[in-house]
Amino acid sequence: GDLAIGVDVGGTKVAAGVVDAQGRMLASARRPTPSHAPAEVADAIAELVAGLRQEYDVRAVGIGAAGWIDRDRSTVLFAPNLAWRDEPLRDVVAERVGLPVVVENDANAMAWAEYRFGAGRGQADLVCVTVGTGIGGGIVLDGRLHRGAFGIGAEMGHMQVVPGGHLCGCGNRGCWEQYASGRALVRVAQEMATASPEAARTMLAGRSVEELSGPDVTAAAQDGDPAAVKCFEEIGHWLGQGLASLTAILDPGRFVIGGGVSDAGDLLVGPARAQYRAGLSGRGHRPEADVVVATLGSSAGIVGAADLARM
Ligand code: BGC
Ligand code: NA
Ligand code: ZN
Repeated sequence: GDLAIGVDVGGTKVAAGVVDAQGRMLASARRPTPSHAPAEVADAIAELVAGLRQEYDVRAVGIGAAGWIDRDRSTVLFAPNLAWRDEPLRDVVAERVGLPVVVENDANAMAWAEYRFGAGRGQADLVCVTVGTGIGGGIVLDGRLHRGAFGIGAEMGHMQVVPGGHLCGCGNRGCWEQYASGRALVRVAQEMATASPEAARTMLAGRSVEELSGPDVTAAAQDGDPAAVKCFEEIGHWLGQGLASLTAILDPGRFVIGGGVSDAGDLLVGPARAQYRAGLSGRGHRPEADVVVATLGSSAGIVGAADLARM
């Protein structure tokens, strides 16, 4: 068969899967991220690949990584939320596995998977936004993944939305990912809990303000806690405003919202949709894109990286 392995390198775990040409994941494996040292990450990837190859004959490996990847899909130039700088990840892994390897931006991989096999299917002008620790983006234009001149296109999490705003891991201030990501959700919830502990009592559930995590806020919001719902409204609002700005440039037919925070579904996407509509330039005089939740969940990165490795 025409099989490839996709690898998703996350902050806490490295996950890999064997994927066929129809986007089906036939087998998968994972292990904790040993450290962020590239050689150790490469060792972990090589072990996962070796394990999966015992049962499947694969011809390529695609790695999705949360950073800026150069145009020839080999070097991680920079990663705002990891310590990676000019890491030749492709060659380090290729030397260990003895197969063709490509490195892709994690959000580009996810976008490609949603375009080919998920919520973006059939929509040749598509923007995917992954809302996790940061914000990642992937853009499909006329059925092709947009990489930009240097491979670093679609870094939409670093659009400036608030001049002089919160400091970002990229070195600038006021980036979109400081306002509409999982990290932003936690910041908003902690600010609220500090300012009005009484209103945040259910959401805190006996925890200290510092202990409050994104999944805690999501769980409380899903139970209908008004304070937690309000936190989602705030980041959803910022998310939708960014989608409106992206529309001014790209005019996509659909936005697919993925990443861990999108597990909250309409709690996030409802307010995003509302602000997207309200913030559109020329609203009422133009067609509007759909704003939908991703359907491939946490396997999107693996499936997309594997599919891109075959090309
Ligand atoms: C990085 C992107 C990455 C995204 C999601 C952002 O901070 O700049 O490269 O795709 O986070 O992981
Ligand atoms: Na991207
Ligand atoms: Zn930034």
